[in-house]
Amino acid sequence: MISKRSCTMSTTSAANPFASQGLFITFEGLDGSGKSTQARVLADRLRKEGYAIYETVEPGGTPIGQQIRRILLDPANQELGAIPELLLMFASRAQNVEQAILPALEEGKIVIADRFTDSTIAYQGSGRGLGWEVVLELERIACQGIRPNLTLCIDVDTETALNRARARNNTNRQEARIDEQAAEFHQKVREGYLELARREPERFRLIDGSGNEQSTAVKVWDVVQAVLRDASPARSVSSSPSSNR
Ligand code: TMP
Repeated sequence: MISKRSCTMSTTSAANPFASQGLFITFEGLDGSGKSTQARVLADRLRKEGYAIYETVEPGGTPIGQQIRRILLDPANQELGAIPELLLMFASRAQNVEQAILPALEEGKIVIADRFTDSTIAYQGSGRGLGWEVVLELERIACQGIRPNLTLCIDVDTETALNRARARNNTNRQEARIDEQAAEFHQKVREGYLELARREPERFRLIDGSGNEQSTAVKVWDVVQAVLRDASPARSVSSSPSSNR
């Protein structure tokens, strides 16, 4: 079992094998896929079960990251190029890893992130056409070896996702710069995610998000429960194979 709030965080024991390294779960998906809702639902459920949870978001998981997020998502910044966009995504992430994610994992918490490096692979690597290699190069610099133990990608078709995202943007357009890219861009992003699922089927799980919120939450919970059951010290956050990418 992963550490629960009542466990002593500083010692590793048979009952609490993750006490000194935590577990890192990320949510991925197209804009409008419903992943943020699912991340919140899972965090609440795990908290009720007694787990110590740290929730975060990329870009923007720290006060400095929030400032970077505003630059990245403001629709007024149309001239922002693909490379500066990529570097700003990693600037936010590097700050988050150092300031919040690593310390939380070291305390034995379950960290739940709404997006992480797989978003950059899908959006900048595949969507913007920068390729995966440059993304992985920056990951090596920015993430200090931190990779998710489990990624839940809420998969819906591009049209459904974009319709939901556009409905949201009609009421609040402040963060719409990337959502508002053409449908072909989002199609490439989805293909990036599907390729990740093919390359890393153990870690990167596609969850059908075409149903309602509750039915998707049940699918998420089934996967997470199985992972928590199987959790052992061998699944360390720094031991994910980088060679599969
Ligand atoms: P959110 O609205 O799901 O928080 O996502 C913010 C936007 O940023 C969304 O359009 C996806 C995009 N994004 C990237 O393009 N690359 C990244 O690395 C991340 C984390 C997000």
